[in-house]
Amino acid sequence: MVNGKIHLYSQAEVEGVRIAAQASAAVLARLCEAVTPGMSTADLDMLAESFIRETGGKSAFLGYRGYPGHICVSLNDEVVHGIGRPDRIIAGGDLVSLDVGVTIGGYVGDNARTVCAGGQPGELAAHLMQTTADALQAGIDKARPGNCLNDIGATVERIVKAARFEVVRDMVGHGCGIQMHEPPEVPNYRVPGKSPALLPGMILAIEPMVNAGTWRITVDRKDGWTVRTADGSLSAHFEHQILITENDPEILTWPKTV
Ligand code: MF3
Ligand code: CO
Repeated sequence: MVNGKIHLYSQAEVEGVRIAAQASAAVLARLCEAVTPGMSTADLDMLAESFIRETGGKSAFLGYRGYPGHICVSLNDEVVHGIGRPDRIIAGGDLVSLDVGVTIGGYVGDNARTVCAGGQPGELAAHLMQTTADALQAGIDKARPGNCLNDIGATVERIVKAARFEVVRDMVGHGCGIQMHEPPEVPNYRVPGKSPALLPGMILAIEPMVNAGTWRITVDRKDGWTVRTADGSLSAHFEHQILITENDPEILTWPKTV
């Protein structure tokens, strides 16, 4: 990926991406509702498989670079890319980060959200989730013509830093629509130097991953996927796929159904 031409989506293509994005949003919303203490992360993956099938689409993640799950389900200090496991039981108060990608008709939808199992987060966890959601929303608000890509990340970073949390630096958002990962990379922090202008027709997945402690991460050596905070601190992850328009950005993964 890295640097390449940023695709400008035609009206017809946007129609296709909207369908995939809405499917992934509906699946994510249903999964978040389903999160209950006592269930395993594999239970969530199995539920996701059937929810995704009901949309008429397929998991965009299964088989991607060999990824073995239908979704990503990451608990507490797990940042992203957690794989559902039958022996991983969710406890009340756990932070559950769910990441859902659906492919339909040749287009991809991608979105993520962190919820608290049992709905009673501790003070730190609640603040972390709220800050990450707020940072995403503020970043989305910058996704408009007249701004550059860097304005998105700079805004996300500013909000996260003001809350005394840290933004993960080794993983970034991305263009998304025809392929899951397209140019440009969408960092959640300010990058020095020139930055591409944002133009109507661009579709971006903006996805801040925010840690309560250090921004540093590790990758599980056994499964090769699960990303954790290096210091064991909590992490939250929110992602929307958005279309840049002449006016306000359209949040393609805003759940309209459910
Ligand atoms: N939403 C994630 C991303 O944007 C999903 C990738 S998970 C993978 O990168 F397993 F498919 F790689
Ligand atoms: Co993504």
